[in-house]
Amino acid sequence: MVLKETLLRHGFEFESDTDTEVIPKLAKFVYDSLTEDTRAGDGGGKEIQFSQVVMEVMRQIEGAYALIFKSPHYPNELVACKCGSPLLLGVKEVGEAENRGAFVETELRLAKDGDKPKEFYIASDASAVVEHTKKVMVIEDNEVLHIRNGAVRIYKFEAGKARTAKGGLPRPASIERALSILAMEVEQIKKGNYDYYMQKEIHEQPDSLTTTMRGRLIRGGGDNVKGVLLGGLKDHLRTIRRSRRILFIGCGTSYHAGLATRALVEELSGVPVTMELASDLLDRQGPIYREDTAFFVSQSGETADTLQALEYARSCGALCVGVTNTVGSAIARGTHFGVHINAGCEIGVASTKAYTSQIAAMTMIALALGEDTLSSRSRREAIIDDLFNLPDNVKEVLKLDYDMKNLAQELMEEQSLLVFGRGYNYATALEGALKVKEVALMHSEGILAGEMKHGPLALVDETLPIIVIATRDATCSKQQSVIQQLQARKGRLIVMCSKGDADLMCPNGGCRVIEVPQLQDCLQPIINIVPFQLLAYHLTVLRGFNVDQPRNLAKSVTTS
Ligand code: F6R
Repeated sequence: MVLKETLLRHGFEFESDTDTEVIPKLAKFVYDSLTEDTRAGDGGGKEIQFSQVVMEVMRQIEGAYALIFKSPHYPNELVACKCGSPLLLGVKEVGEAENRGAFVETELRLAKDGDKPKEFYIASDASAVVEHTKKVMVIEDNEVLHIRNGAVRIYKFEAGKARTAKGGLPRPASIERALSILAMEVEQIKKGNYDYYMQKEIHEQPDSLTTTMRGRLIRGGGDNVKGVLLGGLKDHLRTIRRSRRILFIGCGTSYHAGLATRALVEELSGVPVTMELASDLLDRQGPIYREDTAFFVSQSGETADTLQALEYARSCGALCVGVTNTVGSAIARGTHFGVHINAGCEIGVASTKAYTSQIAAMTMIALALGEDTLSSRSRREAIIDDLFNLPDNVKEVLKLDYDMKNLAQELMEEQSLLVFGRGYNYATALEGALKVKEVALMHSEGILAGEMKHGPLALVDETLPIIVIATRDATCSKQQSVIQQLQARKGRLIVMCSKGDADLMCPNGGCRVIEVPQLQDCLQPIINIVPFQLLAYHLTVLRGFNVDQPRNLAKSVTTS
């Protein structure tokens, strides 16, 4: 606001109310003042470099940003900088073939001036550059990238560095950085035979789950004890078990993934788990202690609120663990150690396969934390057996695609949808409702069934569709009673139950039933969410909305 007022006073005109418009105008103002100083002999008499103009702009702006500058004053040059938001540089030597090779964990030195001609790509996400090159470099906060004469230099921006004694701008030395090779294949960012990324990502869950678990599950037999092996965590398990409490911190779908696994982590580790929505933790500045272990769950690894919560937890001295899908992301780099969920690149804005992989990864974390407890051994082994069965069961539940399309046809004109869940599937109710609301743009609310009588029951009538999740687990009989109470009030019910339980759950008939395969209770959220994903997808197509880029939403929420 202050900057805009200054610029208005200097005769700049604005066409919008966005903060972004202030930045190029500020850059022009800075350039004009610096060149004027130089002409007057106050600037040390040297030509002003483009990167110096940008650094002067950075000195004056606040908040999170990732910016690319072009200017007619500096033809054939480009400067990029960032603070808080992600930015990466891709480098391709001209004539180099598209990079389709397997993942090689190696580093290349960044080429210097005079090397072979290169093409440079600047993007906020690796999926935008992988088509062109796999050689990338993550730009850190307060770094300035200057492309000039076919070469790239990186400067460290130091906010406190004042002008030189003669009034000129400091000329920072460029820093050396290494390129790394992306672990991503071009095929991952193509739709293949699907119409939409969301559709593709829903249907590839048997594979993404397999990848999440690959090399991490030990089948047992011979000298091997059935168990899990999480490389990033194995040296820290004792410390986590000794924590005063565990915190699961995230936003949206990632928060729901934490919620879905909370009970299992508590059961197997014996450590209480507190759930925190990152924005709320920050608003409250909730207490965090040195004896706490905080897990940061994030698909992108770049969500601003989660990132700020991480900074906050670190400042409180907590042990910080990342659970992300993006190698090299800010959260992966900022945590002490972590687990990658390896779901593969997710492009649809609505998270689907990352959600199920987050639950699978966090289930493995729970198993690892419990591995020193003999009394839970048979429980852990049963879960591991079902993790091996998971991809096939997800394939099975994907066969409900046609039924979910029919249900979507039935519901497409509705204004609202309620989803009742409890226990492990309270998270499914919240996540299912979120999917429907964010892509199909239909009001939908996930409700803890135990709270039904404390308000939501008033909404029940013959018209409002209600999905009740009642698959087999310790809360199943309570859900049976919820169904009876809703039926007594003539509720319009759709019941999700375990295969073969339709008559048990709806003895009086009169409700639509979605039957799903049954696994160990703690893995059921992975199965149960799939029909909701399919329903949300079909509702969106039928209602004519954008499946992959819902209105007003972004894949990575890099501002608070
Ligand atoms: C919903 C969705 C969002 C994200 C949230 C956090 O489908 O994708 O709710 O889960 O914005 O994003 P990440 O997981 O990248 O931190």
